[in-house]
Amino acid sequence: MKEIWNAARERLKGFCRVCSVCDGRACAGEVPGMGGLGSGASFKNNLAALASFRLRMRVIHEITEPDISTDVLGLKLSMPVMAAPIGGTSYNMGENSISERRYIASVIQGCLAAGTRACTGDGPLDEIFTEALFAIKEASGAAIPFIKPWEGREAFDKIQAALDAGCTIIGMDIDAIGLVTLRKMGRPVSPKNIEQLAAIAEYVHSHHARLIAKGIMTREDAALACDAGVDGIVVSNHGGRVLDHTPGTAEVLSEIAEAVKGKVAVLVDGGVRSGVDVLKMRALGADAVLIGRPCSLAVVGDPENGLEKYLNAIRQQLMAAMILTGMPDLQSVGKHILQP
Ligand SMILES: Cc1cc2nc3c(=O)[nH]c(=O)nc-3n(C[C@H](O)[C@H](O)[C@H](O)COP(=O)(O)O)c2cc1C
Repeated sequence: MKEIWNAARERLKGFCRVCSVCDGRACAGEVPGMGGLGSGASFKNNLAALASFRLRMRVIHEITEPDISTDVLGLKLSMPVMAAPIGGTSYNMGENSISERRYIASVIQGCLAAGTRACTGDGPLDEIFTEALFAIKEASGAAIPFIKPWEGREAFDKIQAALDAGCTIIGMDIDAIGLVTLRKMGRPVSPKNIEQLAAIAEYVHSHHARLIAKGIMTREDAALACDAGVDGIVVSNHGGRVLDHTPGTAEVLSEIAEAVKGKVAVLVDGGVRSGVDVLKMRALGADAVLIGRPCSLAVVGDPENGLEKYLNAIRQQLMAAMILTGMPDLQSVGKHILQP
């Protein structure tokens, strides 16, 4: 991966330093850009929260090939890891980085090559969503588009376009109401109350698709999202880009997962940087995790093969961590593997 990170560093000059650990320290306040909002605390808290959990080692057993495949929201995945939605290469990664079209196509193909799925983003420039849909259509609908909580008809029009592109799962990052980029570019988004969220879920369901609400950070919102009829949630603080000083997602995951257990699929993102982190999130109650910035950097560093290589490295690390904690499969993973 070293060559890939070096190439990414070159192409992202002025936008991302491609640090040895992507932890939000060097890029605090860089939004637009790749950083976290304000002090960068929410981004940094994501890594700190994950680091605060420790694993109980178990080495006397017979497990050599743990089963890390999983089924989430009707998708069969080779591992519980997907690429998080990231949009806006021109203003977040710089004009010299990669075009929106190439970026999205590479993320989708890289994930499919690794046996998993990509999520795609949305934003103030029309091309972010239109290019995503173009690439999703090319991949026969095999990606999950996340649509912003636009006001009025726009959200429904975009959902319809995603359904027409063959998507069977649609996401909405309802926390994007905090994005300074959207405000700066004069594109209105607004909070969704439970009736509005329920109307969106109903619309998606009437087309035999499923809805994921992204940006859930409390058990109260998780319960409301469930009541609104969503099929999945993403426990996320948007990589620390919407509100300064939130906890890390790993800190709130377990109480949220317990509150909605068995009712909706629980996904999580924020600061996942290794297979060990994936295992910790799983132990805290996630069905699957999304990885954001490192997937983008792998794509920018090598649009052809970077992401597949990166995801395969995560796979190897997850397998090793499962063996070292004595886990034969993902169903066996629970809080008991964490040091109390
Ligand atoms: C440059 C950038 C653009 C992003 N664009 C979107 C987007 O369009 N939609 C969305 O739901 N989340 C977006 N996110 C948030 C990610 O999906 C994800 O929640 C976050 O990056 C996870 O944290 P991580 O990068 O530490 O893994 C973006 C994040 C970054 C860094």
